[in-house]
Amino acid sequence: MSISILAIESSCDDTSAAICKDGVVLSNLIANQEVHKAYGGVVPELASRDHEKNIVPVVDQALKKANISQEELSAIAFTVGPGLLGSLLVGCTFGKGLALALDIPIITVHHMKAHVLAHFIDDPKPPFPFLCLTVSGGHTQIVLVEDYLKMKVIGQTIDDAAGEAFDKSAKMFGLPYPGGPMVDKLAKEGNPKAFEFAKPRVPNLDYSFSGLKTSVLYFLQKQEKLNPNFIQENLNDLCASVQSTIIAILLKNLIKAAKQMGIRDVAIAGGVSANSGLRNALQELAVKQKWNVYIPQFQYCTDNAGMIAISAYYQYLAGDFASQDVGPQARLRI
Ligand code: KG4
Ligand code: ZN
Repeated sequence: MSISILAIESSCDDTSAAICKDGVVLSNLIANQEVHKAYGGVVPELASRDHEKNIVPVVDQALKKANISQEELSAIAFTVGPGLLGSLLVGCTFGKGLALALDIPIITVHHMKAHVLAHFIDDPKPPFPFLCLTVSGGHTQIVLVEDYLKMKVIGQTIDDAAGEAFDKSAKMFGLPYPGGPMVDKLAKEGNPKAFEFAKPRVPNLDYSFSGLKTSVLYFLQKQEKLNPNFIQENLNDLCASVQSTIIAILLKNLIKAAKQMGIRDVAIAGGVSANSGLRNALQELAVKQKWNVYIPQFQYCTDNAGMIAISAYYQYLAGDFASQDVGPQARLRI
């Protein structure tokens, strides 16, 4: 008997639905929310309202694209956390309602674990155990992945996430939200060694990005006093320098973790893994450190339901189902 799963992701500002049949992702539809651009960041209440508008058409299209009917579904999966409570609630309520109507089980998926498991959508798939640097808008973690469902965070940020460091720097440069992709684009034309920013020292395998943010702010304030057009005249170099600082901070601990663990299979995941500088730097490390590196396809880096679907597939195989009284959890540890 085949296993067909409808998966829903609504933890932040993207409404996404995917269908996975026997471990193969057949469709992955994403509706991005443009409404937040005017506010320079995600407005939780507006995100929830947009999820409500988007969820039915997105699920509908995901089923149609996969050529699967509701009646053929074996289970419904949704992101249970971590994320914005109101946003999560939409996917959770919709998923539970549909599962009840179809009389099929529900599977609750951890958003950060799903970013890691995005590596099992396509080949090459990493062997266990491997290390995954999961870098998103809200999290920065080095994860020891022992099995599909067994993961341990061995290092994480003590303040801002890497994506936040990108977005907040971009904001200071006057770029629209989310700034990460724009910094990436402009950095390609800039000199990464043009300016130097703070690289905080944190014990063990943990990270900190708030000092970098402050050092960018003070640097800009100083330069703008001397030249009010400093940012416009140096935008590409600023982007390249901030990006290379973030990448250097991220990779230093990843190298340390790989050495400590004696692991050579190393992956990156999450929104920031779409960054071309990080992807290139990891490829270079593969040669230098003799690592096998795993970099997700772009569509599976940022938030998507494909990763929720593949996680749910392995949870289904393990019999990991949830009951109807489950609710969203804004904070949820791995
Ligand atoms: O994983 P994700 O889509 O959502 C969360 O779970 O947070 O990550 C979003 C983050 C944002 O901070 C965004 O600026 C960043 O990923 N991001 C990038 C790039 N694409 C997305 N950062 C740098 N370069 C990119 N190309
Ligand atoms: Zn995410």
